[in-house]
Amino acid sequence: MENCNAELYDFEPRASSVLREVLAGLSQNPKTLSPKFLYDKRGSEIFEEICKLEEYYPTRAEEEILKDYASEISSLISEDALIIEPGSGSGEKIRFLIPHLKKPTGYVPVEISKSILLRMTEELHQQFPELNVHPVCMDFTKDFDIPDALKSAKHKVVFFPGSTIGNFTPEESMSLLRGFGRVLTKGDGLLIGVDLKKDAEILEHAYDDREGVTAGFNLNLLNRLNREISAEFNICNFQHQARYNKELGRVEMHLVSKLSQIVRVHETIFRFQEGETIHTENSYKYSENEFITLAGRARYKFRQLWKNRKKQFCVYYFEKD
Ligand code: AVI
Repeated sequence: MENCNAELYDFEPRASSVLREVLAGLSQNPKTLSPKFLYDKRGSEIFEEICKLEEYYPTRAEEEILKDYASEISSLISEDALIIEPGSGSGEKIRFLIPHLKKPTGYVPVEISKSILLRMTEELHQQFPELNVHPVCMDFTKDFDIPDALKSAKHKVVFFPGSTIGNFTPEESMSLLRGFGRVLTKGDGLLIGVDLKKDAEILEHAYDDREGVTAGFNLNLLNRLNREISAEFNICNFQHQARYNKELGRVEMHLVSKLSQIVRVHETIFRFQEGETIHTENSYKYSENEFITLAGRARYKFRQLWKNRKKQFCVYYFEKD
């Protein structure tokens, strides 16, 4: 951040906590890793490629909504609001809204990757020199909070686009939304993008594209573990799988072991049967009613929703109760 003087609030997780979580996940039956580990530098780059794929409709659908309804959405947000975005990534989506917001007090991107956070802060500063940006480096899935100095803003809105909420189980989603609620006061806003339920075929293509970009995204997780926590996965021995679990309303991503093998991770040995999987991601899909009910249980009152023209995706505005 050479030209911009935004102060960084730094709560970056240590590598040791990654090792601990990975060992715990691989010790479970079935083996499971948190989807947040998909996003190292390379993983984040591949995710950006995914967002441009023909089969992966959610990004385009949500951007269409934010573009088409930017002024209507912004009219629900009070003047002087502080916009807080957990898992902001490169902050593409907030850019649709900034020009329509009434004198925003500031923007708080909360992001686990410090390099992405610093780059986007600099870019936003270039694009919107008037906007106060307060970058916070933290894992927003753990005890979400923002510094007290920011919390005291009169009006706050948590912006949580991208259907990231879908990567948590409904129970986790509720506790995440309650966690966001801790930085909000009654009447503050939650603007959230959530993917809608649809045909299994469309969903499975969206998460297993022809070009194999999503496969590369999933497999990159093993590369990351090899590099960062001295794991010894042979990538060629695993295969990407995406399947829609209709009963649970979620697309599941797995890494399937192509053969019976043992893999060392740091100082621990893990055995894999042929066909055994590491469950790397869930992507829950919600009908409107299902999501409004879930948010209600986390103490948010529904105000309004918007869908894209093909009715694939939904953006909701709630008020903290
Ligand atoms: C970030 N998240 C909402 C994406 C999703 O659709 O669940 C991640 C993703 N995984 C595979 N493709 C995209």
